[in-house]
Amino acid sequence: MAAPKKKLYLRTFGCQMNVADSQLMAQVLAPEYELTPDPEEADLYLINTCAIRKKSEHKVLSLLGSLRALKRRRPHLIVGVGGCVAQQEGERLLAAVPHLDLVFGTHGVWRLPELVRQARGRRTVDVDLREGYAPLRREWPAGVIQGYVTIMQGCDNFCTFCVVPYVRGREVSRPPAEIEAEVRDFLAAGGKEITLLGQNVNSYGRGLPEPVTFRQLLDRLAALPGLARLRFATSHPKDLSEDLIAAFGELPPLCEHLHLPAQSGSDRILTAMNRGYTRKEYLEKVARLRRACPGIALSTDLIVGFPGETEADFEATLELVREAGFEAAFSFKYSPRPRTRAADFPDQVPEEVKSDRLARLQALLGDLTLAAHRWLVGRVGEVLVEGESKRGGELSGRLRTNQVVNFAGPRHLVGKLAQVEITEAYAHSLKGRWVREA
Ligand code: SAH
Ligand code: SF4
Ligand code: F3S
Repeated sequence: MAAPKKKLYLRTFGCQMNVADSQLMAQVLAPEYELTPDPEEADLYLINTCAIRKKSEHKVLSLLGSLRALKRRRPHLIVGVGGCVAQQEGERLLAAVPHLDLVFGTHGVWRLPELVRQARGRRTVDVDLREGYAPLRREWPAGVIQGYVTIMQGCDNFCTFCVVPYVRGREVSRPPAEIEAEVRDFLAAGGKEITLLGQNVNSYGRGLPEPVTFRQLLDRLAALPGLARLRFATSHPKDLSEDLIAAFGELPPLCEHLHLPAQSGSDRILTAMNRGYTRKEYLEKVARLRRACPGIALSTDLIVGFPGETEADFEATLELVREAGFEAAFSFKYSPRPRTRAADFPDQVPEEVKSDRLARLQALLGDLTLAAHRWLVGRVGEVLVEGESKRGGELSGRLRTNQVVNFAGPRHLVGKLAQVEITEAYAHSLKGRWVREA
């Protein structure tokens, strides 16, 4: 009989790409470790980290600090930090945290089994950015419903506020055949919805030996039998092409939702951010998307308090938000990041001004989202049922337009598409009534 497996506790911060990476970590470690939901019984404690804002980094450091006691109780415990903070800090993390055994970067996932073995003998750092995920292919558990497939890594855009190009390295696309094989495996395991991941999916294909565009990749995947839903993130407005806009009316599995980060509504600030589009160009793309796909839901990311942002610049952002009429949005206070150009810009905006602008922006965004939710009341939409709702007792899933819907219904609907009538609108979700299996 094989020896019982050791226990892995895995904590994930950050974006969907980190979620996908964490699944890969569990996969490569599976021959030796099985996941546990209880940190107290862990033999290996891994934290997959995010460096996008100071706050994200803080969360990691305070969690790490709190692990000192656990490590004292379980001296054989290996504590490892991976992901973007690991990539950014490298050696410095080992120096700062005496009970930390392993630091591995964003490209080190496939070397993890070897690194963990090494870390049992001596404290180990591996933040080599050259190799990519190289030999890894995702395996999907039976009964999987929804899956993330990384189609490219890194970013070459160097927006002046953003740490991603430094912690994820240069942009590299995966060959389409590899992606298709992964999606086919997903469908064979019973999966329904795929989200393709990249920092800037619109530039997918650059540098590959065979010429292929993102639209061509979408066409290829949308044609696979059994794929109910296809999504992708994130799309950079400057590279959003006509043929991609057209895809929303043309490819049946492609969901009517696009996340299109605007960041600001002021041309002066957009230039300082190195975003590569103007407010007018952004709004034109929004108009074209709404024409090509009248039911589409648009979401965005916005930053307030970027260096040099005046009250007039900020009002231009509010104005852009009203004009675009976003169905949903994430908004953040600008946070200076190591090595990024904007961190050294003069005219950093005082914290209280940032807080005030964020509150005003979020009030407007909250109104817009609630209005979009109210508009759905009385309509019937398709929900992919992902599981029980957070509070329990109900089922929960998403509309094709990405809003969360909770409704009462039989358990056997989990993993299936259901027609649901929207009955109530809340700030962050909808309530519905099950009509029938789709
Ligand atoms: N690749 C994606 C964004 C990834 S980061 C894109 O280009 O859209 C996710 C979001 O975090 C960004 O859209 C931005 O709004 C926010 N963000 C990134 N760096 C930030 C910083 N230094 N301060 C505040 N917000 C930031
Ligand atoms: Fe960051 Fe800009 Fe790249 Fe997005 S496109 S990851 S915001 S540098
Ligand atoms: Fe954070 Fe890294 Fe994603 S910095 S947002 S986890 S790419």
